[in-house]
Amino acid sequence: MKLHLKVWRQSGPQDKGRFELHTIDGVSSDMSFLEMLDVLNDRLLAQGKSPIAFDHDCREGICGSCSMMINGRAHGPTRGTTCQTYMRNFHDGQTVVIEPWRARAFPVMCDLVVDRSAFDRIQQAGGYVSVNTGGAQDGNCLPVPKDDAERAMDAAQCIGCGACVAACKNASAMLFVAAKVSHLGLLPQGQPERAGRVLAMVAKMDEEGFGNCTNQYECEAVCPKSIPADFIARMNRDHLGSSLIPSE
Ligand code: SF4
Ligand code: FES
Repeated sequence: MKLHLKVWRQSGPQDKGRFELHTIDGVSSDMSFLEMLDVLNDRLLAQGKSPIAFDHDCREGICGSCSMMINGRAHGPTRGTTCQTYMRNFHDGQTVVIEPWRARAFPVMCDLVVDRSAFDRIQQAGGYVSVNTGGAQDGNCLPVPKDDAERAMDAAQCIGCGACVAACKNASAMLFVAAKVSHLGLLPQGQPERAGRVLAMVAKMDEEGFGNCTNQYECEAVCPKSIPADFIARMNRDHLGSSLIPSE
């Protein structure tokens, strides 16, 4: 298969950036999208040119680092991560446009690599349970209703990839924050710090420059872990309730 790639190149955060055109042939339909980029980079290196920078780690759909827009869609044509997107979803002769995430809170560092540390700072604001629990308890010591356990597990699947932000016209991080707030807030261990957690994480999200949710559902449509948008409504209720608790 032969593809025409239009790839975003940007040497650093201050560079204006531009699209660069590459034609690549011999692409197997069994390659992942990242493997196709590996082949392109090998060829660029052989020609003495600089390879295209892109983030990746696990290549198994679990680390969330392989962020890029492919033909205007976060992670490409399938609802999965880029590393789990295969070239069989493209056709011979197709033009493929590859860009980094576009969001003020995710500045472009180089080519397709963006700085997603804003997500880390939101997590650091409250996405943890700080009590010292000593040794790990037996899982059955603390009964958790099955529905709550399953819902918490759904939320805990978020891999922090940022596709929800990239797909949203407001660059809203509410699906990510709602997932992180909910996976602890639904469990008994998360209750003592529940109010402070949601207030701190939402405040940090706003401070980092993410936009607000206007119910576009683009986040849900591209989330590789199928986190449902109703977690955002749950977070909003949690936030309102927590903001009404008088401070001591
Ligand atoms: S909510 Fe989904 S799209 Fe957003 S960061 Fe988590 S896994 Fe990625
Ligand atoms: S490289 Fe880890 S999710 Fe794609």
